[in-house]
Amino acid sequence: MALPDTNPTSTHAWQKLQHHFSQVQNVSMSEMFAGDNTRAEKFHIRWNDFLVDYSKNRVNQETLQLLLELAYEANLKEAIIEYFSGGNINRTEDRAVLHTALRAPKNKSVLVDSKNVIPEIFEVKNKIKHFTGEVISGQRKGHTGKPFTDIVNIGIGGSDLGPAMIVEALQFYKNHLNVHFVSNVDGDHVNEIIKKINPETTLFVIVSKTFTTQETLTNAETIRSWFLKSATPQDIAEHFVAVSTNIEKVTQFGINPDNIFPMWDWVGGRFSLWSAVGLSISLAVGFGHFENLLNGAHEMDEHFKNEAFDKNIPVILALLSIWYNNFYGAESEAIIPYTQYLQKLAPYLQQGIMESNGKSIGRDGKPVNYQTGTIIWGEPGTNSQHAFFQLMHQGTKLIPTDFIGFIKPLYGNDEHHNKLMSNFFAQTEALLNGKTETQVKAEMEKQGIPAETASFLLPFKVFSGNKPTNTILIQKLTPKSLGSLVAMYEHKIFVQGIIWNIFSYDQWGVELGKQLANSILDEIDSGVVKKHDSSTEFLLNHFLSNK
Ligand code: F6P
Repeated sequence: MALPDTNPTSTHAWQKLQHHFSQVQNVSMSEMFAGDNTRAEKFHIRWNDFLVDYSKNRVNQETLQLLLELAYEANLKEAIIEYFSGGNINRTEDRAVLHTALRAPKNKSVLVDSKNVIPEIFEVKNKIKHFTGEVISGQRKGHTGKPFTDIVNIGIGGSDLGPAMIVEALQFYKNHLNVHFVSNVDGDHVNEIIKKINPETTLFVIVSKTFTTQETLTNAETIRSWFLKSATPQDIAEHFVAVSTNIEKVTQFGINPDNIFPMWDWVGGRFSLWSAVGLSISLAVGFGHFENLLNGAHEMDEHFKNEAFDKNIPVILALLSIWYNNFYGAESEAIIPYTQYLQKLAPYLQQGIMESNGKSIGRDGKPVNYQTGTIIWGEPGTNSQHAFFQLMHQGTKLIPTDFIGFIKPLYGNDEHHNKLMSNFFAQTEALLNGKTETQVKAEMEKQGIPAETASFLLPFKVFSGNKPTNTILIQKLTPKSLGSLVAMYEHKIFVQGIIWNIFSYDQWGVELGKQLANSILDEIDSGVVKKHDSSTEFLLNHFLSNK
């Protein structure tokens, strides 16, 4: 069965939402809170060790009801069944989208072309488990007989961002291995990593679903040449492993077939950390923690698949985001984790969200007549408070924001954690209520500021408030809760793609730049600039003559 093809703007719910928006767009959240002291009770979801409070949004019961109607009219329920059961929902690449199968239990059956893929997933997991055990224990050694001390993950996009984000996030659970990530084709990146490692004790994990990506192959070749300065080609077998669907190309690179960790074309690059792409994660924290990460994601999958939409975290978050994107005209969303461990979450989600839903052609093949993908950005709090929060509080833009916090700190340092979390709660409260003229006046009076100065300062010190936030409060940052959190955003992406009637799982837009870069590379290498627009020609000539 194909995904439904419904232009959201032609649904009854959309028309009703438009009318509703014209009535409530200037609603004051503070007034809604003042008028209903059970608002937080009504607008939150408790699930496992997650508490998601979405009461600080510009919505009332009717808004939510209409957004839920939109989800039903877009046939979200049927689409979820297709998603989980291996339907060819990535139509433009003629594939299923089954990252959820990677974290399904052993006794499940998920069919791709009438074949149950769960046994082969577990076969690869077993291979990861054994390999991880051997490397961590020191049983697997480098070519001079020394145990490995360093791992270098060579990949880009989904073959880098997911593992890099998770390894950073799970630093607390890490073992003795130093894990490095090389992604950029910028030669300075790989050279900085090379400076830190010893070829005798380093294991290289080349991760590329296609094994054709310029950046990854260039970095892998540079590293291989550097490695061969102190080793023989036979030693490559002990030091290089690969994760890919393209077994032929990996073998051509010189990697021992035993050192290939397969993946499948029904796993999208940006959703692949749950597959063997997560090998560096497993090496960094051990297979047990990697498995818990997968279990956490699976629990979120079950919640998303089975829970009623009005209590379904990914569905509610997606609908709220559509409300702001398509009715309020908000362009971006911020994601602010209150833990330094999640400093790479926003860059990771930028690929997940923007590569998936940055589309302008509907599933009917026609240009859409409404806004799609949101711009995602963010940094951990409290650092971001001292960087861009000014714009969120007093700028002209509406930026719906997710605040992610944890009740327990990992090192048990309550003094720091209480300070961190007081900022976490204070920011959403400040964004909600702002500061009124009366409050500012009283404050200045108390400070003894002269009347003339006070009246000059007054407008600058007023905060309008009414800025929407979701608070995602989790018990503790563990592999399991992290898995659930990441899967939550994956399903939010899915819901939005379904409602926006786009194909979320291709990325044709990335191709054009790649093609042009290849032909420009020929011109740079040969020193002969061909016909371009006058700006590109001018820049290329300047580059070549000053090289
Ligand atoms: O950026 C485009 C893209 O195709 C991503 O979707 C993918 O994650 C990345 O390139 C890397 O691709 P590969 O794993 O095939 O090297």
